[in-house]
Amino acid sequence: MGLFIAFEGGEGGGKSTQARALHRRLARLGLPVVLTHEPGGTALGDNLRRWLKQARELTAPAEFFLFAASRAQLAAEVIGPHLSQGGIVICDRFAPSSVAYQGHARGLDPGLIQAANEIATQGLRPDLLVLLDMAPEEGLGRKGSAKRDRFEREEVAFHRRVREGYLEMARADPQRWLVVDASLPRAQVTKIIWARVSQLLSQRRS
Ligand code: TYD
Repeated sequence: MGLFIAFEGGEGGGKSTQARALHRRLARLGLPVVLTHEPGGTALGDNLRRWLKQARELTAPAEFFLFAASRAQLAAEVIGPHLSQGGIVICDRFAPSSVAYQGHARGLDPGLIQAANEIATQGLRPDLLVLLDMAPEEGLGRKGSAKRDRFEREEVAFHRRVREGYLEMARADPQRWLVVDASLPRAQVTKIIWARVSQLLSQRRS
């Protein structure tokens, strides 16, 4: 079948929880599903992840190219092969994260980021992008202030630009994006996502 779903959004919106819940549900149905995440998911990506989250000196373009390198490896090693075998891939963050964070929030040209992303992904595009949308103050509050990484320590204005970037992408491509209010109770968010995914699955089957 081949179905590619990515979870996106700012900090503290519950992406990882929802991605895991969806993975569990699809696996219970006996479907061939893998759950992976960015940055990481490969040996190269896991190394880059450590660097990206803690490095002191990193220019915005250098930061982008490290995320893109992690993405390129993940797309080639994990996502592409699984999809071509007809499986389902769930990815916790993907190419739009770079458009929102390195583009809209860090100030690189979002159009150029999108174009460079195409090199990394070799044209792999999610069939569904789930945006867990939430006010940054609430998301960061949920995460608490202990052990914040480089991104979580950014000012609220940075996180507002991330949010606006995502909303702009979702408005431009409403067919592929499902925007969910992440401040709703967790079970309700899960239900909204499942409604869309099960619809996609039955479309694929018919
Ligand atoms: P992670 O712990 O995965 O954060 P989260 O749980 O919020 O997904 O850390 C990844 C951080 O990297 C996160 O703050 C968002 C940021 N990021 C980018 O800036 N650009 C990117 O392309 C990606 C994939 C992540």
